[in-house]
Amino acid sequence: MTYQKALKTLLVVAAFPAISNAQDAATHPTYAKEVSRIIQDNCQVCHQPGSVGPMSLMNYEEVRPWAPLISMRVSNREMPPYHYDTDAGIQELQNDWRLSQADIDTIVNWVNAGSPMGNPEDLPQPKMFPAVDEWRLAGELGQPDHIIKSEAWDVPANGQDLWWKPIVDAGIDESRCIKAVETRPSAAAIGSTHHANSHFKVLDASGNWVNGDRLSEFAIGKLGEKVPKGACRKVPANSKVEWEIHYYPNGIAVPNDQVSIGIWYYDEEDDFVEEESYRQDLRAYFLTASTDDYMIAPHGKLMTQGFQSFDHPVRIDSWQPHMHLRGVAMSLEVFYPETGRTEVLSQASNWTSAWNHSHTYQEGFQPLIPAGATLIMTAWYDNTADNPMNPDPDQWVGSGQRTTDEMSHAWIAVSHLDEEAYQALLSERKEREKSSVASVDGAN
Ligand code: HEC
Repeated sequence: MTYQKALKTLLVVAAFPAISNAQDAATHPTYAKEVSRIIQDNCQVCHQPGSVGPMSLMNYEEVRPWAPLISMRVSNREMPPYHYDTDAGIQELQNDWRLSQADIDTIVNWVNAGSPMGNPEDLPQPKMFPAVDEWRLAGELGQPDHIIKSEAWDVPANGQDLWWKPIVDAGIDESRCIKAVETRPSAAAIGSTHHANSHFKVLDASGNWVNGDRLSEFAIGKLGEKVPKGACRKVPANSKVEWEIHYYPNGIAVPNDQVSIGIWYYDEEDDFVEEESYRQDLRAYFLTASTDDYMIAPHGKLMTQGFQSFDHPVRIDSWQPHMHLRGVAMSLEVFYPETGRTEVLSQASNWTSAWNHSHTYQEGFQPLIPAGATLIMTAWYDNTADNPMNPDPDQWVGSGQRTTDEMSHAWIAVSHLDEEAYQALLSERKEREKSSVASVDGAN
């Protein structure tokens, strides 16, 4: 570079330092400055030694060889694994793992530019992660009030999918309202515990143990779930808990493995329990008239639909699609008979049975459904060879319990409201909308 040219560059940089830095960040991101922070915040929880991801992404040397694959997996939104449409339905979700478009662009630009390290002095401090044998919610809520463990089971080092369905006592003799619940695999089996679901079993009037509400659902990487303040989701007194644990051996044998559920309770349980006007339940809402009225043809596709309305107002607190290997998409809509309008509440167009999430709406953004409105639940299945999860496109597939059968329901946490509670929530929303419009006006 000639002296003059160098001087000119120096002058330009000196004259427009802010612009040049901003442009740098957008078009010439480095690992040290931008990418390391995105990976720390969104990937390392799973991509570190001992966690569930297949490789560690803790530093530049580890990340660099994966750069092209990282670019691909983040730009098609397969990683982080959280499948929820960004352009339809309610976007205000708790524990939302989705990357912002700006972060995706930064990663893609970085990889296209040859994944440079940049200046090592820009690197952030390493992030501390809670030990794998600690409750994720403990930082916020302290230790759980009550712990329920599955019966011990020997996880082999190698082999096929395994299902373990023990029934244990809930260990509680008075009903209480759940504030938060978290399912935690043991540290040793964290890589092989794929799913661990649990529901209550309660005695019916004729003395038989029947299935009650869902207690918790866990899939690899999932955090705990909180119940909104004021809603009561009960642990029924003297109930049992039935587990459904899906182990997938990953090379490490774990003798006597146990999965744990931690429960944090609300204190004012008496108010909650008597106040039936605000009861929350987490139930499977079926997307077919009955559970066994559909068959998916070999190399075929299918859509099923289910409808649900309530004779009282409700608030929807969370939504979790449940299908098996052929399931590829699900949506939740609401139809208002007075206006004839239909609105999308939630949609997952790229759903996969490899990952399960309970999409919990943020406080104040949960859909409020008036009495008589109809929830429309739609599921789509792909039994062709294009579906990467499909083990055998030549099979007819009907509904059933096995992984290779299908299911068609959504887990939906519903708070049942009386008219007064519903009106109070509606006017809270109106107030908020008014004040946010006012502050936007004020800003102008
Ligand atoms: C909740 C845990 C979790 C999080 C968070 C997560 N990953 Fe993953 N990742 C996995 C698991 C498990 C796999 C292997 C299964 C699969 O490919 O889906 C994987 C696979 C991958 C692969 C493919 C590896 C291969 O050999 O095919 C890439 C690339 C990747 N992750 C990058 C990322 C990046 C980048 C982030 C953050 C932006 C991220 N992941 C966040 C768990 C996670």
